[in-house]
Amino acid sequence: MEPRHEHPHVPGPSIWPVGFAVGVVALLVGFVVNWAIVVVGALIAAAFGFLWVRDLARRRGLTKAPAVEPERRDGRAETDGRLAPSPPTYGRSAFLELSTLGLGGVIGALVSLPVFGFMILPAFLKQKAGSHDLGPVTDYPEGEFVVATFMSRPEQGKVSRRTAFVRNNGPVNGRPSFTIISNHCAHLGCPVQPNTAVPAAHKEYQDVTLTALPTPPSGFSCPCHGGAYDIEGNRIAGPPVRALDRYAFSIRNGHLYLEAPFSVSHVDGSGSTAEIHKFPFAFPGEHVSGAEAWLYPIQPPH
Ligand code: FES
Repeated sequence: MEPRHEHPHVPGPSIWPVGFAVGVVALLVGFVVNWAIVVVGALIAAAFGFLWVRDLARRRGLTKAPAVEPERRDGRAETDGRLAPSPPTYGRSAFLELSTLGLGGVIGALVSLPVFGFMILPAFLKQKAGSHDLGPVTDYPEGEFVVATFMSRPEQGKVSRRTAFVRNNGPVNGRPSFTIISNHCAHLGCPVQPNTAVPAAHKEYQDVTLTALPTPPSGFSCPCHGGAYDIEGNRIAGPPVRALDRYAFSIRNGHLYLEAPFSVSHVDGSGSTAEIHKFPFAFPGEHVSGAEAWLYPIQPPH
């Protein structure tokens, strides 16, 4: 009598690996574009990964080889009716699939974890600059621009020197109002200059140098590619894609403190009544509003 051959059930193709791959791709693209896409990608990868693993587990159950009748040694049936139990067996395809997945995961982790650890994470850790004392408020005459240069990170020395254009707008409802504009051009970051003569006389306060502008500038201009801004920092000509960045401020013990910088798409109005369209800090050349803003990578904190 011919031995009976059982063919294991071969499951059909699955879309879960494809969905998982799409989720991983979305997650990686999200790291470059936007946190929202990172979250969506992670959710897709997690959902499809779960379904994939569950599917594999089911297939393994399906492909478990059925117990094979022991061959009769003498051509006659066993008389005591007891057969030796078959050892558990697993489908070869399930084994290959799981081992490929596991090996791929280990290799992926070995490649990507050092990248995250040494290249990306430091940019997001301990990057928040503290507030900076720009000296007594009385050094900022009302209605005038003062050029303040300071070291944003004194421990790094002069390489961290920054410039801000500070205007005391006077009190509003009993509270001080300041306009503090960064001198970083919103095109490629060149230092913009006020459109007026800058006197040589200046005051020193700790690491801060203050230069009062005797005549109000008509705006700011960039020497690199002709970018031009009005007195509120709005772009009026040239290649910059947005208004000049600004700094938040606080007043403590009669001193003006510079706080975190932020980016601005544009400003309506002027002075203390200006409506500032503010956004999280972005690098020069990057749109902060509109559809183009989605094309730029996630910013490390500043
Ligand atoms: S860097 Fe200012 S216009 Fe290009």
